[in-house]
Amino acid sequence: MKHYTSIQDIDSLPQWVADARALKANSKAYKSLGENKTICLLFFNNSLRTRLSTQKAAMNLGLEVMVMNFGSEGWALEYEDGTIMDQGTSEHIKEAAKVVSQFCDIVAIRAFASLTDKEKDEAEVVLNGFKKYTTIPVVNMESSVGHPLQALADAITIGEQNTKERPKIVLSWAPHPKALPHAVANSFTEMMLKQNADFIITHPEGYELDTKITKGATIEHDQKKALENADFVYVKNWSSYKDYGKVINQDKNWMMTKDKLGNAKFMHCLPVRRNVVVEDAVLDSDQSIVIEQANNRTYAAQIVLKKILEKL
Ligand code: CP
Repeated sequence: MKHYTSIQDIDSLPQWVADARALKANSKAYKSLGENKTICLLFFNNSLRTRLSTQKAAMNLGLEVMVMNFGSEGWALEYEDGTIMDQGTSEHIKEAAKVVSQFCDIVAIRAFASLTDKEKDEAEVVLNGFKKYTTIPVVNMESSVGHPLQALADAITIGEQNTKERPKIVLSWAPHPKALPHAVANSFTEMMLKQNADFIITHPEGYELDTKITKGATIEHDQKKALENADFVYVKNWSSYKDYGKVINQDKNWMMTKDKLGNAKFMHCLPVRRNVVVEDAVLDSDQSIVIEQANNRTYAAQIVLKKILEKL
């Protein structure tokens, strides 16, 4: 594997999950693998978990780490070919990506969807621009379309917590005051479709995700019905895909409550808005495994970086 930009880059999910769990048990076992090598983390958007867990994973492997908040500190990048750059952009991705390749051995990038231009978002111009013009491996720390490090951490967490041969796993939409991207829901869906699980997505009408991603998943618009006898409930807001980037419904009845959760484990990628997306009683209960999900972000990133380093 050269790049890790989507969960389709995982060649054997059970093996990766097992390897990540082994790293968790002995996180410094490969401390010399990254010796004399550098990873550069470029953030076009804010982060807490991704920034710290990827940095921690890199340090566990002995890598030097450089972090740049590109969105606020870097030059505004141009992605179009042949553009006359006499407007707002100062540097072309062709030079920027090649320059980054001079300073490090791996580059990791976070660049969210704009939610204003579906075509551009789906083209993943930032991630694919770097992938096209760098000479080094690229890791996706959440792009317009996917968050494969989060989905891998989620698979590790479910692997640790699951007691059944075929658990019932529900992805439930929740209300949110702001328009949020589809990346987490997309990658979680792709990941769950690879699991031996009874997987159901529930959301109000109008919040259908991209059917290229949900193909094969069960969709149930009745949240109560979807949640019946669930073992894991992953709650997430996303904006409309059809009416791209719009908030078309903020129905408070979709908030996750202790009553609705039943005996299931509660999952969320974080950050989460308390008493909007999920009530305090859920987050503060033993059924919430959100902190363990966040903890597993380190081992998801570490297995990805280990596999890349082994091929360098
Ligand atoms: N879940 C997640 O990616 O968190 P951050 O946005 O804080 O990195």
